Amino acid sequence: MSLNIDWDLLHSEAKKIMAKAYAPYSKFPVGVAALVSDGRIVSGCNVENASYGLGLCAECGLVSNLVATGGGKLIAAVCVDGDGNFLSPCGRCRQLLFEHGGSDMLLMTPDGPTTMSKMLPWAFGPEDLNK
Ligand code: THU
Repeated sequence: MSLNIDWDLLHSEAKKIMAKAYAPYSKFPVGVAALVSDGRIVSGCNVENASYGLGLCAECGLVSNLVATGGGKLIAAVCVDGDGNFLSPCGRCRQLLFEHGGSDMLLMTPDGPTTMSKMLPWAFGPEDLNK
């Protein structure tokens, strides 16, 4: 099934949830929204903790939301900072997104959409466990 990717909608959903971020320590709110293979949109924001290292990135919330609402494959995602500008997911979060989106998942960048295989080359993933 080929889905139409409404990048503007993903961007606005990412900004909407970014406004709900709990980031009192870094003061760096992040929001992320993604299109799922069945057409729904899932999103997440960062949730920090007084024990700094335990903070959850926005992408953690997104994948949790994905699984809790029925799973599926991530097709395309937009991640934003507090100004609504496209943000490059951190390394750990690329791995999280790769698990549920694979190499073909698209990520918006300031230069336009790019693939997960470009963002996380030579990724380790579920298939490596079967080799
Ligand atoms: N952050 C995310 O939520 N996602 C990323 O991909 C990059 C970083 C959060 C973690 C922390 O709460 C804040 O941004 C500053 O690093």
